[in-house]
Amino acid sequence: MSSPQSASAGSAASASVPLFDISRQHQTLHAEIMAALERVCSSGQFILGPDVVELEKRTAEYCGVKHAVACASGSDALLLALMAYDVGPGDEVIVPSYTFFATASAVTRLGAVPVFVDIEADTCNLDAALVAARITPRTKAIIPVHLYGQCADMDVLRELAETRGIAVIEDACQAIGAGYRGKSAGALGDIACFSFYPTKNLGAYGDAGLMTTGDDALADKLKLLRGHGMRPRYYHQLVGINSRLDSMQAAVLNVKLPYLERWSDARRERAARYTAGFQACGVSDVVRLPVVRPERRHVWNQYVVHIADGRRDELRAYLAERKIGTEIYYPVPLHRQECFAHLGYGAGSLPVTERAAAETLALPIFPELTFDEQDRVVAAIADYYVAQSAPRAMLTGPNFLKLADGVRR
Ligand SMILES: Cc1ncc(COP(=O)(O)O)c(C=O)c1O
Repeated sequence: MSSPQSASAGSAASASVPLFDISRQHQTLHAEIMAALERVCSSGQFILGPDVVELEKRTAEYCGVKHAVACASGSDALLLALMAYDVGPGDEVIVPSYTFFATASAVTRLGAVPVFVDIEADTCNLDAALVAARITPRTKAIIPVHLYGQCADMDVLRELAETRGIAVIEDACQAIGAGYRGKSAGALGDIACFSFYPTKNLGAYGDAGLMTTGDDALADKLKLLRGHGMRPRYYHQLVGINSRLDSMQAAVLNVKLPYLERWSDARRERAARYTAGFQACGVSDVVRLPVVRPERRHVWNQYVVHIADGRRDELRAYLAERKIGTEIYYPVPLHRQECFAHLGYGAGSLPVTERAAAETLALPIFPELTFDEQDRVVAAIADYYVAQSAPRAMLTGPNFLKLADGVRR
């Protein structure tokens, strides 16, 4: 991993701070990854095969769960998990609206209805307290999303689901390595779904996904479903899909997995520095900082602040002028998307979600982000808010650097 030390505090003012830069990680792993890819090419085994079996074994161990079944993407993992429960027309599945599209599109693609429930204002995770009221005799599953790398309130959801015979499918696509009350994401629901999209904490060099489960029968069904329901060859027990993972992606992921804990620590360190930096600058009333709930191990796939003064988009433009990358996860919540208009969720129907869509701003965070780059992000945001009321030297000069130093571990 590259050193987090400042390259040059004085001359860096005009350099860009990318939201994410995968090339830095690749540089450090180049030789290992190329050797692994070369090995796959020489083996001629491009689909499933030993690299995929190895990935499944190691990921199951990493998550502390009995089975892992690899597939082609996180979106497919969600689809396959629902297929394993025979979700179809007439069924309902409870999902947050504040998530990536695939959480709900998997439900719709099977002819079932996504039932959107509001989120907690601070974590942006599904508000477990609101779920019970939305359960009906048609509810087949709940899909909590561990958004930004922090687990949803799984105990409450599990208890609700168990008493009513409903499946809990974790959308852990942003949360590999996250923890909740001593257990890992992937071991908290009946099935969990992971994405290895390149920007995830464990990213492939293309699309890749995986499901985990502690249940033997479900694991077997997921394996069948990802390969056209075929067993033995050309005999189809179920109507599945083609969602076989290719060996190249598995080989890349097998190289990267041993580094994941170190990368998660680096993300946590950077999250702590952001939080301390914003607090030290006195902007944390307007720039509301991410909250980590007790007994959670956050893996910071994203560091997302809430800009509470209605000027999020202006601030984003200001940062873009300074070449600081940001993103909005997500600008239009799913219940307000055109393709779900027929479900009839009007403006204001999920107020906390809609407020989050207007306020959230994701800042650069990745293991190789340098401390100097981070300090420039904090200083730029502080400048935007307090340049009038505080001398600039407080924010960008030695005092700011001293504050930033104070939060280095
Ligand atoms: C919460 C969530 N669910 C599902 C997915 C879908 O994963 P993939 O892009 O691998 O299909 C993603 C990935 O962006 C995600 O963030």
